[in-house]
Amino acid sequence: MKDPIGGHPTRGEQLDVLVQIVADLANPGDAVLDLGCGTGYLEHLLVARRDDLVLTGVDRKGSALDEARERFGERVTFAEGDLTEPAAIQIPGRRFRFVVSVLTFHDLTDAQKRATLSWARDRLSDDGLILIYDRIRLDQPALFPAQQAIWRRIERVHGAAMRTADSFAAYEADLSDTNRPARLDDYRDWFSGLGMASQVLHLHGNVGLIGAAPQ
Ligand SMILES: C[S@@+](CC[C@H](N)C(=O)[O-])C[C@H]1O[C@@H](n2cnc3c(N)ncnc32)[C@H](O)[C@@H]1O
Repeated sequence: MKDPIGGHPTRGEQLDVLVQIVADLANPGDAVLDLGCGTGYLEHLLVARRDDLVLTGVDRKGSALDEARERFGERVTFAEGDLTEPAAIQIPGRRFRFVVSVLTFHDLTDAQKRATLSWARDRLSDDGLILIYDRIRLDQPALFPAQQAIWRRIERVHGAAMRTADSFAAYEADLSDTNRPARLDDYRDWFSGLGMASQVLHLHGNVGLIGAAPQ
């Protein structure tokens, strides 16, 4: 399966990191819930590494799910659901060892992110792990020029550009309800409020993989 978000310079490596974590830690038959699964690219990577896991994907986009169902048949459960109303999402009632989300949380407001994490925590097994892979909100104007240098380096090394901005003011002006990455500190506070320890597991530019586990 071709990556539907091809051209993203850091995604290939970071998805590989995420998949490695799941592949190394999962026990046979463990369940994985993917929030904002799209057409199922992460499921494709997971099945290739661990064909013994029970996979469920949620997305609000019916056409993406139709494509995913056609590709995976009964191998993966795909449920249509909106993360802005997680309580209404119909998924199997089991506990999930992993709840993951890839490049989706920036589409939610902070209140929705927090509510989704709380909902996910309620469905996580006691030895479970939440893995959120998304852009991190930049909130330090004094460090913005350094961030821009990193973007330029990524473009030089990978030959592909990330979502950038010419100035901190332009970056902030570009924020909206569908482009609202959370701050690292916010993730830490939200997870802490859910009784979870959290840590940045991998960071490339301003795109991070955050892991959280019940304490
Ligand atoms: C950038 S795509 C990433 C798709 C997939 N995770 C991947 O990496 O290939 C973001 C996905 O999040 C989904 N999404 C955005 N907001 C959502 C919401 N409120 N509820 C459910 N899905 C949502 C979109 O439909 C889209 O499929």
